[in-house]
Amino acid sequence: MKVDVLLGLQWGDEGKGKIVDVLTPQYDVIARFQGGPNAGHTLEFDGIKHVLHTIPSGVFRPDTLNVVGNGVVIDPIIFKKEIDALVALGVDVAASLAISRKAHLILPTHRMLDAASEAAKGKAKIGSTLKGIGPTYMDKTGRNGLRVGDIESPHFEERYHALRDKHLGMLAQFEGFEAALDDREWLSAIDFLRSLRLIDSEHALNEALKAGQRILAEGAQGTMLDIDFGTYPFVTSSNTISAGACTGLGIAPNRVGEVIGIFKAYCTRVGSGPFPTELLDEVGETMRAEGREFGATTGRPRRCGWLDLPQLRYAVDVNGATQLCMMKADVLGCFDEIRVCTHYMHRGETIDHLPYGINPDEVEPVYTTVPGWPGDLTGIRSLEEVPATLMAYVKMIEDAVGVPVTVLSVGPDRAQTLQLPIPVSA
Ligand code: GDP
Ligand code: IMO
Ligand code: MG
Repeated sequence: MKVDVLLGLQWGDEGKGKIVDVLTPQYDVIARFQGGPNAGHTLEFDGIKHVLHTIPSGVFRPDTLNVVGNGVVIDPIIFKKEIDALVALGVDVAASLAISRKAHLILPTHRMLDAASEAAKGKAKIGSTLKGIGPTYMDKTGRNGLRVGDIESPHFEERYHALRDKHLGMLAQFEGFEAALDDREWLSAIDFLRSLRLIDSEHALNEALKAGQRILAEGAQGTMLDIDFGTYPFVTSSNTISAGACTGLGIAPNRVGEVIGIFKAYCTRVGSGPFPTELLDEVGETMRAEGREFGATTGRPRRCGWLDLPQLRYAVDVNGATQLCMMKADVLGCFDEIRVCTHYMHRGETIDHLPYGINPDEVEPVYTTVPGWPGDLTGIRSLEEVPATLMAYVKMIEDAVGVPVTVLSVGPDRAQTLQLPIPVSA
């Protein structure tokens, strides 16, 4: 058996949670491979909206094992709150959740270091979610981190105190930063974590594959936030691309099957950093209002802009995407005409790839205008009802990136999901 990988092709918030939830009945295991509580994955069904941060989005479906992989970073406090909320809804989390011993722990002082580092950067701040993600991955690569498996050691508190005290020393270097630490809630959340199913997930996942089980790897953030291939330094601190599923789960590259890339019919970004097709006018405001583009984790307004084909092609390439899901087509129903960036002007030349720098002074998007599909798509449940102009839009994207769009999403609910014939352009 192979592991399919599902991930974001833009700047995050593409709708990964919704599609994982839709696809879960086809899988035995859903495994998150990177990121942490910076993620906010929204699922909607039966009129209720759920936002997950660290727990894989398969958790609402019965008979599915949800694995938090070694590439994930866990804040025990947020993790416990998330589980408590699921248990209150009647979800049997104890039975369906397993956590990698090799996942790293976010300490309260990691969050403080994130805040201090962002404050020190001033206008150049990343716009981080302030969940401690960067400092935790820094400790991981710096070989100082604490892992979930360490909480089973009798020396855990000692090791925790040593790292905490080191962080407090670092925090003292930030001018004017008050380090008021109360870690009692964190330590009690560690006790709770001890009561959960901690596993050697790379072993469990490879055994599951050998036993013929189907696994879906769930990504967080998006390709343009990847530490290597995103708009560095305005990125997150992990590999969000498909290769991250290998290192974040212990799955070999030859075990990867389908790579399912999720993208919105337009673009959004939350936080700082370049965004070539960003709309700073009322068109962008309309998109934000119609798409309810406010962060699922921080509530911040998301920056909005037209679809960017050079960016999408780049993302398809670095991920090896084999199929695509286009989300939020309904949101563009508020426009008569739609613009799409097909190329960039770069140093006086027209180019169709992503150059090293994509700041406004480096690239200027070149647009084409296509007919829209004005009206309300959210009630559509069959392909026959899809407007021809929307199908033409899908075909244009398939032609531009060379990969079929297999899913068209026309609303946030599970039911508002259409499977497309493969490929539409055939
Ligand atoms: P994720 O981080 O990739 O899982 O995405 P988020 O949950 O952060 O953001 C996606 C938002 O769009 C959520 O509020 C979803 O409920 C919503 N959503 C997903 N698909 C659609 C869609 O096709 N149409 C509309 N209108 N909303 C959608
Ligand atoms: P999901 O999984 C959108 C952004 C932050 C910031 C940058 C670095 O819901 O798609 P970090 O806290 O990781 O150090 O922040 O990355 N960011 C996200 N943007 N969706 C996310 O996750 C994000 N996770 C982080 O806004 O610009
Ligand atoms: Mg999100």
